This record gives sequence, C-alpha cells and structure tokens, in this order.
Amino acid sequence: MRIGIPKEPFEGQTLVAASPDTVAKLIKLGYEIAVEEGAGARAGYFDDQYLAAGAEIVGKEEAWGSDIVTCLDTPPAEELSLVKKGATLLARMNPGASPELIGRLAVKNVTALALDMVPRLSRAQSLDVRSSMMNVAGNRAVIEAANRFGRLFAGQVTAAGKVPPAKVYVIGVGVAGLAAIGAAGSMGAEVSATDVRAEVADQVESLGGTFVEIPVRQESSDGYAKELAEEQQKAVLEVYKEQAAKSDIVITTAQVPGRPAPLLLTAQAVAGMRPGSVIVDMGASGLGSNCELTRPGEAYTTENGVTIIGYGDLPSRLPGQSSQLFGQNVVNLFKLATPKKDGVPIWDAEDEVIRGMLVTVEGKVMWPPPPAKVSAAQQPAQAAPADEAPEAAEAPAWKKWWWKVALGVLGVALVLTAPTEMAGHFIVFELAVVVGFYVITSVTHTLHTPLMSVTNAISGIIVVGAILLAGSSNPIVAALSFVAMVIASINVFGGFLITNRMLKMFERSSE
Ligand SMILES: NC(=O)c1ccc[n+]([C@@H]2O[C@H](COP(=O)([O-])OP(=O)(O)OC[C@H]3O[C@@H](n4cnc5c(N)ncnc54)[C@H](O)[C@@H]3O)[C@@H](O)[C@H]2O)c1
Repeated sequence: MRIGIPKEPFEGQTLVAASPDTVAKLIKLGYEIAVEEGAGARAGYFDDQYLAAGAEIVGKEEAWGSDIVTCLDTPPAEELSLVKKGATLLARMNPGASPELIGRLAVKNVTALALDMVPRLSRAQSLDVRSSMMNVAGNRAVIEAANRFGRLFAGQVTAAGKVPPAKVYVIGVGVAGLAAIGAAGSMGAEVSATDVRAEVADQVESLGGTFVEIPVRQESSDGYAKELAEEQQKAVLEVYKEQAAKSDIVITTAQVPGRPAPLLLTAQAVAGMRPGSVIVDMGASGLGSNCELTRPGEAYTTENGVTIIGYGDLPSRLPGQSSQLFGQNVVNLFKLATPKKDGVPIWDAEDEVIRGMLVTVEGKVMWPPPPAKVSAAQQPAQAAPADEAPEAAEAPAWKKWWWKVALGVLGVALVLTAPTEMAGHFIVFELAVVVGFYVITSVTHTLHTPLMSVTNAISGIIVVGAILLAGSSNPIVAALSFVAMVIASINVFGGFLITNRMLKMFERSSE
C-alpha cells in the first residue's frame, strides 16, 4: 500500500510526519511512500534526501489521496476533502474533543487512528508521539530558559572570581520534567524538582537532582496526577512560592488529564522572584497555564524583571529531531500492524494498543475505546478476585509445599548414601542451595544482574582450592587445577567488570 506524507497545512508547523530515515524503514516493511514536494523542508529534510531513501516526490493531491495518510494533526477541511473514501488516516486528533471530526471521518468510510491516544502501556511506549514530543519540549524548555537567562548555568572558579551554578527548579516530573532535569543538570545547573506523585523522587535523584518534598503525596497507580483539593492547593502554592524565590529558573510542566493545567505559580510568587529569573511555563500549551502571569505563545519580562516564557510550540523549535522521533513512532506503529512486512497493515482491534487509538474503522465509529489497563507506574499488588482463578486462590497447602518436601527428602537421601568423606561436603552444598534460594528470591528482579555479577567473586574459593592443588604430583590434577584457576578468574574479574559498568550507568558525569 502507499503511504502519503503531505506537507503540514498549518502555518507555523515546522514538523513533517516522516524523515528520510523513517521513510526507508517504512519501505522495508513493504510500503510505497509518496512525499509531497517540499514536505520536509521546514524540518531540514529535502526532496532529494527522500528520493535517495526510496520515496516518490508527488503533488499535494496525490499525497493526500494515498491509501494511507500520515500527518501531524487532524487536517483542515480543504485537505480532509482530498483524503479518498476508504483511506486510512493517522494523525493526532484529540477525538474526545472532536465529535464533529469523528462524524466526517465516518461519512468518508475512513479508518482513523489517533496518534495522541496511545494507551499508557509499557509496550506502547515506542509508538507514543506524546512522550516523544514532551521529551523534546522538556529539553527545549531548558534551552529557551538559558537563552533568556543572563548567566551561565555551570558554576566556575576563574581568575576573575567564583561564579555560582544556576539554580533550576522543575515542577512536575513527568516525561517533560525528567527531560528538563536531565538537560539542566548536564549544563551544570543545580537542579531540584517537585511532583505530587511521591514515586518520582527516586527518578529525580537518579538524574542528580534534589527532590523537594511538598505537603501532598499522591500514590498514583496509572502515572497520572489527580486534581488537588482546595486546602492542598493552598499548601503546595506556598512551597512553590518559597522555592521560586530561591531559584533562578523555574520550569513548570504540570498537567492533570482532562482538566485545565493546574496553577503552580501565582502573581505573588512571581513578584517574590529575583530580577533576571526566568519561568518557562510548559503548561501553557494546553488549557490554562501553570503560571498566573503567563501570556500563552509569548515571552515577556515582568516589571520586577522576571521573564515568563509561554511558548506552546517547543517541539517545533527543534523540527529535525522532533520529526525524526515522530516518524520513528509511526514506524513502530506500522511494525506492530505489519508483522508480515508485506505493506498491508492489520489494525487489530483485539490489540489493546491499537484499540486505544482506533477512532473509526471503515466508517464505523470505534471511539471511545474501553479503558486500557494502564501501566505507567508500578501497579500495587492486588488480591485475585474471588470469582477468578479459584484454584490459585484456594490452592491446598500441599500443592505449594510438595516440591520443597521432595527436594528435602532427596537431599537427606544423598547425604545418607554418600561415602562418609563426602557427606560433609553435600551438607554444606545443600545448605548453600537453601540459603542462596531465599536470598535471591528476596531481592527485587531489577537487582538480580548486579547481585549475580558481584557474587561471582565467590568463585575466588575455587581459585584458592585450585592453588592448593596446583602442586599435585598427578599431572591430570595439576592441569585441572590450572584450568579451574583460569575459568574461576574470568568469573571473578568479569563479574566485577560488569558490576562496574552497571554502576557507571547510574553515575553522573563530572565533566
Ligand atoms: N506508555 C507509557 O507507559 C507512558 C507514556 C507517557 C508517560 N508515562 C508515564 O506517566 C507519568 C506521567 O507522565 P506525563 O509526562 O504524561 O505527565 P503529565 O503530562 O500528565 O503531567 C506532568 C507531571 O505533572 C505532575 N503534576 C500534576 N499536577 C501537579 C501539581 N499540582 N504539582 C506538581 N506536579 C503536578 C504530574 O504528576 C506529572 O508528573 C510518568 O511517570 C511517565 O513516565 C508512561
């Protein structure tokens, strides 16, 4: 089938739905690609690059008239009229707020997938355009702040004197907040951050930031924050005001699904900030804004010298990167839908990810989908409902214990039947197995690899044994002890090397 990549019709939209790189990947999945002339120019991708990647360069009508059309956002009426009957349309559609659009897609017998409605499931992360765009936006927010801030981010000791690092405070630690913490930290700023979701504290610290406690701690099982009660809102505003007064840069990213962006910085908080400080209000891109004084789409400086940036188009300010990520999300969606790599997508409504995105299928309205089982955060352990898996819930005790009893009997039999001089060794071995089993099963899964690699050092015992036997007059024993020394040493040193590499992954570069 042919996928059309049109030039984005909206003024100011610098992105394109595919880069030359992602076009080549779509072709490998069996698709033909038709890119509208000049579609990628604003993102820095030119027609000859698309041609070299294997695409065809076509006119506007042909691109919009392809079997499948992939674009950034719901097209305006003129372009939508070019989409042929029975075609497939992939775009961000915000279907919950666009009943009229759903009607028009249905009339045209279109199959429509909303790219902004990817369910928050771990396996869907690779096709989530919202996450990709928020990640770019978080990074760009730091660049915008640095551009307006009259000082360096990194602290320095120079011959002319000491320069303190900039203090960056991030409110809201979702995808954008984490990207902002990472970017500001890598530029040398001293970063602190806050979120109503208590579970993000570790993430802030793993990026080298300091988590600032607030009087509200929400335990979220789905990764989404809930709206605060009036008293809670009052209490958090106080903390944000205090922190803003101590900071040079405040980046706000807070969102509550289905609600206007929550207010985080009041006019009073802005008045308490030092002249030269900068606020980047990322909440200003949706409904409402995180700062009372934000002018959406603008950057301006208040009377007390605080610059407030309310740009809602941060990903469009890095169009090449954003288009590449958006295009890669689209490729990942087609990979899921084209298992045979034959250029014919199967939009399987039984698949929870696809189902969450389907707005219409050949004109039949599919929106809204049934609620997906979200997994953005770790789910608390839940008791099995009484009517489900009754066997597991009421398993008799012997079913849980029989294998342990059988192993115990086997162990005792082994010791009793072993030659006398070996019995002691078997007892030590069996005790080691029991202790090892309970230690390892008590350690969380994510720590198994570092645990195993560092416990490889226990192989040191083999090295000691082999050294003791190396002087044996029996050449076979001597040779075997040499081999044992070599293999056990690989285990010991290799284990330490792997542990070291893993620990380095958590270290912050000091450069
Ligand atoms: N496919 C997936 O599994 C997937 C996709 C996207 C995000 N996620 C996860 O979902 C979570 C939320 O990410 P997001 O970027 O979409 O969040 P978001 O855009 O919904 O909100 C941004 C952040 O603002 C915080 N916030 C809301 N009100 C606040 C207030 N009054 N004060 C302070 N902070 C406030 C939220 O807790 C959230 O962390 C993250 O843990 C993220 O990793 C998972």
